[in-house]
Amino acid sequence: MVEINLVGLGIGMTLTLMAVALHFSRGTEWTPAADISQEVLERRASTVPETDFPEPMNRSIGGGGVAAGAVASGEEGAELEGEAEEESSSPADIPEDEVEYFEVEYAKQGATIEVANNETVLEAGEDEGMDLPYACRQGQCVSCAGQITSGGSSEDYVVHDNQQMLGDAELDDGYTLTCVAYPKADFTIETGEAP
Ligand code: FES
Repeated sequence: MVEINLVGLGIGMTLTLMAVALHFSRGTEWTPAADISQEVLERRASTVPETDFPEPMNRSIGGGGVAAGAVASGEEGAELEGEAEEESSSPADIPEDEVEYFEVEYAKQGATIEVANNETVLEAGEDEGMDLPYACRQGQCVSCAGQITSGGSSEDYVVHDNQQMLGDAELDDGYTLTCVAYPKADFTIETGEAP
């Protein structure tokens, strides 16, 4: 009986000591999971291709507008003056009392007419009832092209008001864009001739 009591007592004490030991021993500390939300956001952002669009509130949008407004009176005024100067340099603006006339022979039409130096070769021909080719009437295509056959560069005979299609070699061959060509000498032209 005594032996049984000792064994029971031993087991009881062992369990008690274990419970006490476990109670006072340091447990494994709880640590919160790392916050990876920023990392996830950055990773997602890196999968979106970069664009050239300006950022919202970019200074070039807001600031630029304000700056443009602030200088509008000055710069716009200067720009308008510049435009006015450009316009006044166009042969089309030569006042009637300063106009000079030149004899232009339209070879294919078999007609020679007086063309004012504030009138284009195209308009002058049309005013005489000629059916001349054209499209843009702004020097930006070659539909109205013709060739001055009086010898030398077409620029010896006409002033081109902002033609953008013919190179120097073509001008030297006598080619002209009749919609923006104002006479400054007498000449003969083959209309409907493009380089
Ligand atoms: S019509 Fe286009 S350049 Fe004369």
